[in-house]
Amino acid sequence: MPHDTQKLNKQRQDLTQFSEIWLFGYGSLIYKVDFPFITSRPATIKHWERRFWQGSHDHRGTPEAPGRVLTLVPKPESECFGMAYQVTDDVFEHLDHREKNGYLRHEVEIFFTSEEQTVGLVYIGDEHNEAFLGPESATTIAQQILESRGPSGENRDYLLNLANALRDHNVYDAHVFEIEAELKKLIRLEWS
Ligand code: SIN
Repeated sequence: MPHDTQKLNKQRQDLTQFSEIWLFGYGSLIYKVDFPFITSRPATIKHWERRFWQGSHDHRGTPEAPGRVLTLVPKPESECFGMAYQVTDDVFEHLDHREKNGYLRHEVEIFFTSEEQTVGLVYIGDEHNEAFLGPESATTIAQQILESRGPSGENRDYLLNLANALRDHNVYDAHVFEIEAELKKLIRLEWS
């Protein structure tokens, strides 16, 4: 699968038939909302878990020195918190460009509460995309994040902004907070 998934995403769903579509965001889409939306709500999806296993060549790193950003990996008994945005179909032009580095749109059930749910789309970079980096220890991931930057800025800001956004919503994510703690240790070492 090519790095640039824009064409593939257009072929996956014809969105022009819908007047509005729900998008589920679990990474930068939680805290960097650079697109118009009709309404937004905190939500969860089931059987997926956030992981810093996706390489970033275009936002928080470069092709020579990729950063690390989030993707989702399947996990049967898990729930993943995020933000759901109701958008019009034309917004996917921008979103497909923003998420072009290996992410494909998947249909997903989005839960607002245990009784209220809808169907929407989520961008996932699976293990078959060329930018996928896969698992590493929290320290190794934190070190790569510390050293990486790209056109959208420092990779560390991606992690710190996301961790702060999760705290704002009273959400605990062991994977994100462990890497955040490692990153903060490394930053302290840099300054000592
Ligand atoms: C998302 O936020 O839903 C996708 C991954 C990212 O752009 O950080």
